[in-house]
Amino acid sequence: MNLETNLCGIKLKNPTILASGILGVSKSLLKNVIENGAGAVTIKSISYEPRDGHKNPTILEFDSGMINAVGYSNPGLHGALDEFTDLKDLNAPVFASVIGKEPEDFTKVIEGLGNLDFSAIEIPLSCPHTPGFGTLAGQDSPEKTLEITKAVVKAAKVPVFVKLSPNTKNIGEVAMAAEKGGASGITAVNTLGPGMIINIEAAKPVMGFKIGGLSGPAIKPIAVRCVYDVYGSVKIPIIGVGGITTGKDAIEMVMAGATAIGIGSGVNYRGNDVFTKICNEMKDWIEKNNYNSLEEIRGIVHE
Ligand SMILES: Cc1cc2nc3c(=O)[nH]c(=O)nc-3n(C[C@H](O)[C@H](O)[C@H](O)COP(=O)(O)O)c2cc1C
Repeated sequence: MNLETNLCGIKLKNPTILASGILGVSKSLLKNVIENGAGAVTIKSISYEPRDGHKNPTILEFDSGMINAVGYSNPGLHGALDEFTDLKDLNAPVFASVIGKEPEDFTKVIEGLGNLDFSAIEIPLSCPHTPGFGTLAGQDSPEKTLEITKAVVKAAKVPVFVKLSPNTKNIGEVAMAAEKGGASGITAVNTLGPGMIINIEAAKPVMGFKIGGLSGPAIKPIAVRCVYDVYGSVKIPIIGVGGITTGKDAIEMVMAGATAIGIGSGVNYRGNDVFTKICNEMKDWIEKNNYNSLEEIRGIVHE
């Protein structure tokens, strides 16, 4: 059986997508992830100016997930222009992830990237641990989401995905604002939190930035519920992200309403070939349970 997926006109050989911030810092790493089975890949988020990010430690594993406060370290627009050339060579869609605080921060980067071969642009309005970006700045409000989405859609030549936060009172309303602003799809969700882990011997928070966003298995039920809520609120397709490490997790996301599946922490738990593993497990599950395609189960839990 084949898992080919049409994501608002973008053809994917399967629905798995590398989530932003994990391995997507260079063209050679993107190539490696595609060779390991990803249907599409997202680059690590880039801002107009380079950013150093937060001080170490920035990423830790805990019992049931991961916590990170990388702080959007990235080489800026000019670094991205040098790195992500000739993306057509990779033979799979590559999504740019662009961050900013105000609409013009996003549009400056998007206009600058205009000649590169990105198949879509994702805009995270949802980071829980980088002041000015995302939820700490109220970017998750429907009003701000509408304002930023409209500006980005106007500047972009390719489909725009708005990446939402689970840390919001009503994710459906925020998704509706993104749809109204012209987004082609929703990515749900970014990390949960912020959270804190304390080293009790040192009597100090462990993370360099004290707080961080949670990802991995700990957040899966919240991510699934967010995708469920978004599916019930908008018509545009959803990339479901958060805690997906197995084919069964991916099936759960599709049942909640996802068209494609983002995988971030899963790379840490199962290796770079997590994409091939998840696709094989999805196919096995679909066949064993007498379904024929992902379409048949998409959104199936909605009455
Ligand atoms: C180390 C790390 C760095 C991340 N950096 C970014 C980023 O730059 N931009 C972004 O939109 N999301 C970023 N994320 C969030 C992931 O893309 C994803 O939304 C989140 O981790 C939930 O998915 P997961 O449970 O599969 O990891 C990052 C996550 C981790 C763990």
